[in-house]
Amino acid sequence: MSEFPTLDNFYFYGKTVLVRPDFNVPVDPNSRKIIDDSRIREHAETIRELSEKGARVVIIAHQGRSGDPDYLESLKGHAEALSTILGKPVKYIHDLFGEDAKNAIRNLKPGEILILKNVRSFPEEAKDKTPEEHSKSKLVQELAPLIDIFVLDGFSVAHRGHCSVVGFAPVKPVCAGRVMEGELKALSKVFEKPEKPMICILGGAKAEKTVTIVEYMLRNNIADSILTGGLVSQLFLAAKGVNLGNVNVEILKRKKLYELIPKAKELVEEYGDSIKLPVDVALDVDGRRIEVKVSELPSEKPIMDIGVETANTYGKLVANAKSILVSGPLGVYERDAFIEGSRRVFEAVALSKAYKVAGGGDTAAVLRKLNLYDKFNYVSLAGGAFIEYITGEKLPGVEILKRK
Ligand code: 3PG
Repeated sequence: MSEFPTLDNFYFYGKTVLVRPDFNVPVDPNSRKIIDDSRIREHAETIRELSEKGARVVIIAHQGRSGDPDYLESLKGHAEALSTILGKPVKYIHDLFGEDAKNAIRNLKPGEILILKNVRSFPEEAKDKTPEEHSKSKLVQELAPLIDIFVLDGFSVAHRGHCSVVGFAPVKPVCAGRVMEGELKALSKVFEKPEKPMICILGGAKAEKTVTIVEYMLRNNIADSILTGGLVSQLFLAAKGVNLGNVNVEILKRKKLYELIPKAKELVEEYGDSIKLPVDVALDVDGRRIEVKVSELPSEKPIMDIGVETANTYGKLVANAKSILVSGPLGVYERDAFIEGSRRVFEAVALSKAYKVAGGGDTAAVLRKLNLYDKFNYVSLAGGAFIEYITGEKLPGVEILKRK
């Protein structure tokens, strides 16, 4: 990762700083209250630092997608949550770039914090455009004259070429906030020049990008081995010609993974033993965990986890790694009977001396459930952005930082 500007490169006292965190958090569908404030807690450290340095902090963020049940036009609840975390007042204004928002920004004193209305209420926000195109939008044209510096803190929104992510870069000085900085440093350590051997553990249920990740990591000699679990392993087992049973094939079809089999087959043929597959799996037999060897498949019961023999083999492999990247649980961890594979493997990861990074989808949640969160050098709260990064794609939000 090439150098990028951070908070250390600017003097903030009295400056108006527009911060773009990722405040998109789970909300209860009935009460509309925030049920997990982890992301707000993460970004609070960037905001605290700016406020303590005397910046006038203006926050621009989104919650949900317009029209979806988790969409909240007002971020008042987010302002309250941030205020509780910081132990200081956080103002909220239900306006994005009208006169009310502009006056609220002009009236901020050094150290004060203001959150603007959900930026996805602006119809042009969620369109993928170039930074130059977005810089001509009303949002940027109205707010830019009032701000001095733009801080991009949300790595987890960096895969979106959205207006509030890239639009201020052509017209304002830009730097990474602490979350973005930490994320890019951790990812570059494990992903760009990893200490070898490097092991990547891939699981999870949303596996559409898996084949691309495996190909990128092996072709570019980033990973030495890929250990598979979850639907990822079922995809590769099917690619090797294992008959999983109709119920499991149907799941692959429903998740649009079945069509990836030909590409997965090519990778298995090309990289052979570098792609590790389960030798046993756990089935859901009327709610009970029953393990069978892969050689005993097909089964008409759903595969829910890797088996204990596989987990122990994976555990031995990670013990010698110097760098480990984990993306996704290895089984249906939400059910206690099927968390065992993830437990055994991730406990071995925790014990290893490797530099370890985890992220994507449900990874933070499974590590929290296993009490292993703190054993990792870095746990990313990003979903899509993390996955796109590890497929080798360029993220628009990261590109604007590198450009500076
Ligand atoms: C996320 O939750 O991954 C980010 O906030 C991006 O949200 P989006 O997928 O709705 O763009």
